Amino acid sequence: MKSKISNFKDKYGPWALIAGASEGIGAAFSEALAQRGLNLILVARRGNLLSELALGLRSRHEIEVVEHALDLGDMSSVHDLVSSTNQDIGLLVYNAAYSPIGYFKDVPYADLENIISVNIQTPLFLIKALTESMIERGKGGIILMSSLSGIQGSPKIATYAASKSFNTVLAEGLWHELKDLNIEVLACVAGAVRTPGYMTSANEKDAPGTLDPHEVVEQTLGALGSSPTVTPGSFNRFAKFIMSRLLPRKRAIRIMHDNTKDLQ
Ligand SMILES: NC(=O)c1ccc[n+]([C@@H]2O[C@H](COP(=O)([O-])OP(=O)(O)OC[C@H]3O[C@@H](n4cnc5c(N)ncnc54)[C@H](OP(=O)(O)O)[C@@H]3O)[C@@H](O)[C@H]2O)c1
Repeated sequence: MKSKISNFKDKYGPWALIAGASEGIGAAFSEALAQRGLNLILVARRGNLLSELALGLRSRHEIEVVEHALDLGDMSSVHDLVSSTNQDIGLLVYNAAYSPIGYFKDVPYADLENIISVNIQTPLFLIKALTESMIERGKGGIILMSSLSGIQGSPKIATYAASKSFNTVLAEGLWHELKDLNIEVLACVAGAVRTPGYMTSANEKDAPGTLDPHEVVEQTLGALGSSPTVTPGSFNRFAKFIMSRLLPRKRAIRIMHDNTKDLQ
């Protein structure tokens, strides 16, 4: 385990960009990658949380940390981020997501547009932009945070779930295309994770198989390079198998709705 950790910087480094870093899973990725010696570019909207996180990371690890407080749904800010970044980025973690809850008839157009920009357009753009230098360097890694909600239709979070499905399928295709160029791609198809965002929508109640962010991150980093997708947690892997392989599609969608209908 120790040598796996110390190899990380040589394998992907020297810099990692974490999109959606300020709390929850993104903050846990930041800590885990700092522990592996990578310098970090942290992106999120709340600059105060980023500064606090960066301060702690610099004091606990001998790394450099750069913060960018911006909205990943705003394409001009994302373009500025890429053109102003002169660090050698070897690893991209796309963690940010927009996940409004509500039945489709009630979801405003603006929310649908935001799902497309934060969950689809920006990760696609960052992957395209950052793989250029990864290909030149002959190494790199990309991690996309996805969700079990994206393995079948998920009522009440239908568009978010479809955007997560996009991320999983994109990662699978790129995993195959880029592996011969020594660029490792992975989608983390997560079940429930105890993050501030999740706890708000779930009314402080844990769903079965709920994990802490650091468990999700360790299992994800452990799987990078060995498969196109990972689902952290044995309960979640079992649930994924039942939902995607055993149950008829209509039954799986109904079960998903039983789980999402009380989300607020
Ligand atoms: N939590 C779960 O149960 C769960 C389950 C399955 C999959 N996932 C996936 O895991 C990822 C993280 O989930 P989470 O629960 O930790 O999410 P979250 O609490 O909503 O936030 C994730 C991070 O992204 C940042 N972010 C969100 N929107 C942004 C924007 N427009 N621009 C810049 N930064 C933005 C947030 O910081 P700021 O607010 O400061 O911008 C935060 O640091 C998501 O991709 C989600 O789909 C989560």
